Amino acid sequence: MVEFTLPKNSKIRRDGEHHEAPEGAKKVRRFKVYRYDPDSGENPRMDTFDLDMDRCGPMVLDALLKIKNEVDPTLTLRRSCREGICGSCAMNIDGKNTLACTKALDDVKGDVKIYPLPHMEVVKDLVPDFTHFYAQYASIQPWMKTQSPAPTRERLQSREDREALDGLYECILCACCSTSCPSYWWNSDRYLGPAILLQAYRWIVDSRDEATGERLDNLEDPFRLFRCHTIMNCTDACPKGLNPAKAIAETKKLIVKRRG
Ligand code: SF4
Ligand code: SF4
Ligand code: FES
Repeated sequence: MVEFTLPKNSKIRRDGEHHEAPEGAKKVRRFKVYRYDPDSGENPRMDTFDLDMDRCGPMVLDALLKIKNEVDPTLTLRRSCREGICGSCAMNIDGKNTLACTKALDDVKGDVKIYPLPHMEVVKDLVPDFTHFYAQYASIQPWMKTQSPAPTRERLQSREDREALDGLYECILCACCSTSCPSYWWNSDRYLGPAILLQAYRWIVDSRDEATGERLDNLEDPFRLFRCHTIMNCTDACPKGLNPAKAIAETKKLIVKRRG
């Protein structure tokens, strides 16, 4: 049933902690960071950190690591590659889902406000729970499926067949798109969302895969695929410049076409 009030533990307390910049800092920037520890039994809060920008790298991730290393080691976040490849530092920065490691501080005006990705359970601070997202990913069977005998060498593709995967294989499963999608916010229990649907399409159009019919059967459902209403938030959010809305539209077309 739809809840019209926020769950008690999702209301943000206003009185977070304020960490001032070190004495003598000349170029100071303010960061407001969402903090939540479910084990504490307390509601989330917004902490304020004033940092000396003369001693900070240029990206939002640099600032968060500076906070963790020098001010508050309890700040919890995910990151690995720090170059837009692993997808683990996805979060909501300045009102938009993006990657902390590729978001330049110069591109944010005023205070830098940082929240976890929206509409996911929070494990702690900036770390959302991806369990459901990964289960949805597993449900599309993201591997090559074949019935024909395996060739003695690799399964070859023409140059054109390989090019059909451009704009799809680059997806890093960061979930910036899915957590920007209103249809996913309200129906993520049954709607797969743009990230998983883009991945599904990546296998549908792979010339080497032999399970296209089965994959389309799996998506032919009023919720799993057709809950997309082409609002386009997903494409706007993708930090890799991909177009999940187009992949979804192409999948819908294939399903309609085979109905004849
Ligand atoms: S185009 Fe579809 S998947 Fe993308 S934001 Fe809109 S409803 Fe969600
Ligand atoms: S399509 Fe873009 S935003 Fe969505 S999961 Fe892939 S890389 Fe992230
Ligand atoms: S740390 Fe890997 S994408 Fe940001």
